[in-house]
Amino acid sequence: MSKTVPTSPASTDEHPLPSAPQASSGGCPFGHHSEYSEGEPGAPKSDPAEPANANEWHDAELDFSKRMSYGDYLSLDPILNAQHPRSTDHNEMLFIIQHQTSELWMKLALFELQAARTAVHHDELPPAFKMLARVSRILEQLVQAWSVLATMTPSEYSSMRPSLGSSSGFQSYQYRILEFMLGNKNAAMLQPHSHRPDLFQQVEAALKAPSFYDEVVRLLARRGFAIAPARLERDWTKPTPHDKSVEAAWLEVYRNPSQHWELYEMAEELVDLEDAFRQWRFRHVTTVERIIGFKQGTGGTNGAPYLRKMLDVVLFPELWHVRTLL
Ligand code: HEM
Repeated sequence: MSKTVPTSPASTDEHPLPSAPQASSGGCPFGHHSEYSEGEPGAPKSDPAEPANANEWHDAELDFSKRMSYGDYLSLDPILNAQHPRSTDHNEMLFIIQHQTSELWMKLALFELQAARTAVHHDELPPAFKMLARVSRILEQLVQAWSVLATMTPSEYSSMRPSLGSSSGFQSYQYRILEFMLGNKNAAMLQPHSHRPDLFQQVEAALKAPSFYDEVVRLLARRGFAIAPARLERDWTKPTPHDKSVEAAWLEVYRNPSQHWELYEMAEELVDLEDAFRQWRFRHVTTVERIIGFKQGTGGTNGAPYLRKMLDVVLFPELWHVRTLL
């Protein structure tokens, strides 16, 4: 059965209606313009305050008993029922949602990065640039998201801290895959996933595969740069080395951008990405310090000092170093 549509709320002093043009142009009660002029085909048939038929609303579909709705398409039931605070503490909901939304954005970042790596492998650079730009924007958004969590005070965190037990972002398998895909390899980081063979296998596969940057280095070789053979086939489980031949290639690219425009663009996309990642790490440690100071992390590390050390990680070493040479 179709639901009944609410009529426009009456204007009161307490809740004045928006002043944007609306009633005469068939605007919705929230003040959005109609794109139609009155009488035009498709224009709303009546004043929104008095719908001719209670089941009509801007021609919107209102009966989803036999059709896929917004919530169906997006699987909103499982997503919106996946918040299970373990305490009655008001702030635990923020903590859970902040982490869950971060994980969703990480999922998209991984999806884009994997596709971008395949595109580079096939020498299809323009689509790769598009995907890399998207990953950078995702990271920038995650940087902004720290401000929401920063509204949590040390007292508020302390009261819900017992609910977390030993769980920590340190155990995020998606984050670890992201780090590995970006070349920050560390086999010890597989360990927290050994109790989940399905996840362990995914993280291990990322550890053993060439990183995105490794794929870009191979691209440099395909484009005629003399890359050391040892850099082209190496133990992929090790972190990205600083390689002189790669640095020489980037130097040539930056000295002659017009001759190597695509590689030049690739270099800048990568720097953009690492820049955004560094900002994420920085906002993490700063938020952590303001909330827990120098307490040990729930994951067992020494907390802020561990996260500060991670600020020294360099994902694409030659791209940063080459700037000194220009
Ligand atoms: C009150 C909020 C937070 C606190 C106090 C906090 C604290 C910490 C601490 C102390 C660590 C080091 C590992 C440990 O011993 O636990 C850590 C790691 C980590 N956290 Fe957070 N965190 C917070 C929020 C978040 C959020 C919202 C995310 C988003 C997913 C996140 C993701 C991570 C990740 C991925 C690591 C591993 C970093 C690495 O190994 O380089 N954290 N966190």
